[in-house]
Amino acid sequence: MSPTTGSSAEGSEQRIDGLLAAMTLEEKLGQLTLRTADLVSGPKASEVGTDDIRTGRVGSLLHLRDAGRALEIQRIAVEASRLAIPVLFTGDVLHGERTVFPIPLGEAAAFDPDLWRRTARAAAVEAAADGIALTFAPMLDVSRDPRWGRIAECAGEDHWLTARFAAAKVAGFQGKGLADRQSIAATAKHLAGYGLAMAGRDYATVEVSDRTFHEVYLAPFAAAVAAGTACLMPAFTDQAAVPMHGNARILRDVVRDTWGFEGVIVSDYGGIDELVQHGVAEDLAHAAAIALQAGIDIDLMGEAYPKGLPEALARGLVAEADVDRSVRRVLALKAALGLFDDPYGRGDPAFFSRGPIPAHRKLALEAAQKSIVLVTNRDAVLPLDPAPATLAVIGPLADAAPEMLGPWAMYAAPDHAVSLLTGIEAAFAGTRIRHEPGCSIEGGDETAIAAAVAAAREADRVILCLGEALSMSGEANSRGNPVLPGHQAALARAVIDTGKPVVVVLSCGRPILEPWLFEAVDAVLVTWFLGSEAGHAVADVLTGSVNPSGRLPVTWPVALGQVPIFMGRLPTGRPARTSEHYTAKYQDLPVDPLFAFGHGLSYSRFEPSNLQVESRTIAPGETLQITVDVTNHGPRAGETTLLLFSRDPVASISRPLLELRGIGKATLEPGEKTTLAFELVADDLAFIGPDLQPRLEPGAIDLFVGPSAEANRLLGTRIELR
Ligand code: BGC
Repeated sequence: MSPTTGSSAEGSEQRIDGLLAAMTLEEKLGQLTLRTADLVSGPKASEVGTDDIRTGRVGSLLHLRDAGRALEIQRIAVEASRLAIPVLFTGDVLHGERTVFPIPLGEAAAFDPDLWRRTARAAAVEAAADGIALTFAPMLDVSRDPRWGRIAECAGEDHWLTARFAAAKVAGFQGKGLADRQSIAATAKHLAGYGLAMAGRDYATVEVSDRTFHEVYLAPFAAAVAAGTACLMPAFTDQAAVPMHGNARILRDVVRDTWGFEGVIVSDYGGIDELVQHGVAEDLAHAAAIALQAGIDIDLMGEAYPKGLPEALARGLVAEADVDRSVRRVLALKAALGLFDDPYGRGDPAFFSRGPIPAHRKLALEAAQKSIVLVTNRDAVLPLDPAPATLAVIGPLADAAPEMLGPWAMYAAPDHAVSLLTGIEAAFAGTRIRHEPGCSIEGGDETAIAAAVAAAREADRVILCLGEALSMSGEANSRGNPVLPGHQAALARAVIDTGKPVVVVLSCGRPILEPWLFEAVDAVLVTWFLGSEAGHAVADVLTGSVNPSGRLPVTWPVALGQVPIFMGRLPTGRPARTSEHYTAKYQDLPVDPLFAFGHGLSYSRFEPSNLQVESRTIAPGETLQITVDVTNHGPRAGETTLLLFSRDPVASISRPLLELRGIGKATLEPGEKTTLAFELVADDLAFIGPDLQPRLEPGAIDLFVGPSAEANRLLGTRIELR
């Protein structure tokens, strides 16, 4: 699992030994220091000068926005610094670099690991052209809380899906191997449990059992490590009162010792310094010692390593050998990335000189199309085929190109995305289109609603573009009440009152809790933040030239009172029954969500049938084939996704009501039928016991296949695990 592999490993070891022997303490600490350059993504900025590079005081840089400057700085490091150690340029390439793909929560809705890999590959090619050699992605925090702004950055609520996302993204970023000029090192973040920040408030404390932490929250990181991620980043939060930036039990004992991870662990932004605020370190020296002992190699934007470690060494809290261990890992990563042998290999100032990369724009369109989820479609109001004579495109998100990019699109030109209005105008060329924003995304007043209502009255169909601003999602952007902001609900009600058919296009970084809206309008497309090609992708779905296939990677609650609500919950001794008082229900809310995990409609009508297992028993070490037929009874060709779930009905501990085990996809013509096959690996049925060890217990296993986690749409059968 070391980033240094193959025959070059020996030479690289020798080089590292030589460097370590020659380095001063200041130079060693420089290798453990990462500073932000042009952009700032945390509470403080830094002032890095070329002198810091020449003297070796800073070994890695974040957010440098110009390949030309990156090359200049690299030249100083390689040609003018004492030991000629190259700089590691890093960036947050969450969902694209210059070409922006859908936010991760949106892309997760495609349930398509190959797509996830391909978008990461394209992002890596662009990032490498910008000089970047390492990204702080993929983000693998499982989240079940729409209040948390960072739910937009993750693959949703399920750890099995997130583990697939992890493997695909690592493969995409790291490509043919780290040394390849078009590869960038992946950083699986934020390990772990950050998505549990209490009450959805970013950075807040976490309360979770050890067992669940291991089974659910660590699992995607184990998958990233198995896929060869070069780096990991701990979470700002704690587990069992131990902040992750000082959590040796997890970072050292589990990640390094049990998983065998030999790559670099890089702190989050000032995360080591924050051990003082967490109340587990007296000062920066103490914080630095705790983090270093836990196995964190690089201090991102903190003072702890550059300033605290010398003091920690003087006090005897750490030994120089501890520092050397981390320096060795950083140098090994730089070597594996080819930085010593080919320091100017990444960074191509001419790469974007002819504008956007056509193949990447095409991929952005495909990814955006596949991420759209049609959640309601009454009386088949969609697709708008034939095109209506007049269309009213209403709402503050209609003509809002920069918003389409979503959070963490830091390196893209903000206005390069295709707005919804532009996409719709291009797709409905013969239609008379009138646009009225109606109100602002947030703030403002209700005066413009009247003009929007007038436009709706004149139209055959209304496309109502509602949702959030991109600044409402992402880091430090939690919302205590994730509803439509500003006057949008009032706008929607006024437009609905016209009685015209209304299709809502919902741009959002999380489930938006407005259950009435889904009832009141004719169709809703959940479009997240779709990136560069947002407008074209949405227009394609509206016209029907693309048949929607996205599925919700997160359960959509009716109201905040249901949160956390998710597919993998454990059974209760008193399951909800409306007719019985003493059961697990609410007086004032349903227990079921508005939309289940996996929900998503199509213009086709797919029907699964004939669930078969190749054998009724399965033993450890075996794989079982499960097949199901699926027929397209609808009038259009389309892609269907079927999900395989399992349930362990009796085990030594309660097991979840449903566990996701597989994804099956088929594209079918009208009337066509096919058979989808899933493979179930017996050993994957193991679960984490109270002793935190995996156990595979014999007994019955229920298997289900269906389009979503909605119980009444599942086909089921039972097998026996021997
Ligand atoms: C975020 C990380 C990010 C880092 C660098 C932090 O504040 O939590 O996800 O990678 O900043 O931008």
